[in-house]
Amino acid sequence: MTTQFTITRPDDWHLHLRDGDALNTTVAFTAQQFQRAIVMPNLAQPIINAELALAYRQRILNSTPDGSNFQPLMVVYLTDNTSPDDIKQASKSEHIVAAKLYPAGATTNSSNGVTDIDRLAPVLEAMQSHGLLLLVHAEVTDSDVDIFDREQVFIDKHLYAIRRDFPKLRIVLEHATTQQAIQFVEENDNTAATLTPQHLLFNRNDLLAGGIRPHNYCLPILKRETHRKTLIKAATSGSPKFFLGTDSAPHATHAKESLCGCAGCFTAHAAIELYAEIFETENALDKLEGFSSFYGADFYGLPRNNSTITLIKKQWQAPSYYSFGEQTLTPFRQETPLNWEIQR
Ligand code: NCD
Ligand code: ZN
Repeated sequence: MTTQFTITRPDDWHLHLRDGDALNTTVAFTAQQFQRAIVMPNLAQPIINAELALAYRQRILNSTPDGSNFQPLMVVYLTDNTSPDDIKQASKSEHIVAAKLYPAGATTNSSNGVTDIDRLAPVLEAMQSHGLLLLVHAEVTDSDVDIFDREQVFIDKHLYAIRRDFPKLRIVLEHATTQQAIQFVEENDNTAATLTPQHLLFNRNDLLAGGIRPHNYCLPILKRETHRKTLIKAATSGSPKFFLGTDSAPHATHAKESLCGCAGCFTAHAAIELYAEIFETENALDKLEGFSSFYGADFYGLPRNNSTITLIKKQWQAPSYYSFGEQTLTPFRQETPLNWEIQR
C-alpha cells in the first residue's frame, strides 16, 4: 500500500479567489499547494480587459504569503462589448492567457456575460490568431431547459459550431460534468476539459438524497452516477486532454445555507488531497501527476513546474469553518475525514 508519494508541484487550471478581504484567505490556501492557478474573472465587477486583469493580479500578489512564489494566471471575462482589440491588448501580457465565456446568467456574477454567442465570432477569431485560450462555462441558461440537461444542450447548440468555425482555437470545457462533455473533448483536437473534485467524488444523491446539502451545490450541478463514472474514467485514463481544475468557489457559509443558496464548493483547503483520494480509490495514483502537474501546462503551452510536493497517507478532518474576512467559510467534504495530507 502506498503511504507516501511525491509529484511535481501541481497547478489549478480553474479557481475563484474573489477580491478584497477574501484574498487573505483564499490565496494562502491555493499557494500552499499549487504553483500556478487560472484565476476566474467573475468578480462582482468582472475583469473585462487587460488593465483590470493586471490590477487584479497585483492585488492577488499583494495577498500572497511571504516566501511563496505562487503565480496567478489571468483571464479576461467576455461580454457583449468585448472587441477584437481588447483581445489583442490582453494577449500582449504574458500574465493573461485566456478569456472566459460565461453565457449571461449561467452562474455566480455572470449577468454581464455573453447574451448572443453568434455575435462573438470576431472576438473568437482574434483569440485564435493571438493564441488566447477560450475557457467555456458550457451551460445554456434557458429557463425551459432542465438544469440537469444544460451542459449537453450547450455543447450541441453552441460548442460544436465554435469548434468547427475556429479549428485552431484552444478550448477548455471547464468543469465537465457529463458523458457528452467527455465525448466532445475526446472527439476534437485542440480541446480539453478541467475536472473538479466534487464532480469526481459525488453524484446528485450526495446533494439531494436524505436531506439537501448546500455545500455540495455548485454549477454545473452534480449529475447522476453514470456521468460521474465517465468523468472518473477520463481523469484516470492518462489522456492529456483532461486535467485538474478545482473550481474552488468560496461563498460565506450564510450565503450557501440560505433560502436561495449560492453555487460553489470551497475545495482549496484540501484540493490535491481530494484528488489523491479519488485516484487511490481507482487504483490510479500513478496517473495523478500527469493529470495534476503536466497536462494542463502542456495544453496551455507553459513550462512544467520544477519543484515537488509530497503527500502522506494520514487521516485529518477539516475544521467546521475557516474565517473569511468578517464571515465564515465552510469547507467542502468537512463532515468526513480526509485520507491524505500534504507534507509541510
Ligand atoms: C462559481 C462561483 O461561485 O464563482 N460557482 C460554481 O458553482 N462553480 C462559478 C462557476 O464556475 O460556475
Ligand atoms: Zn468556476
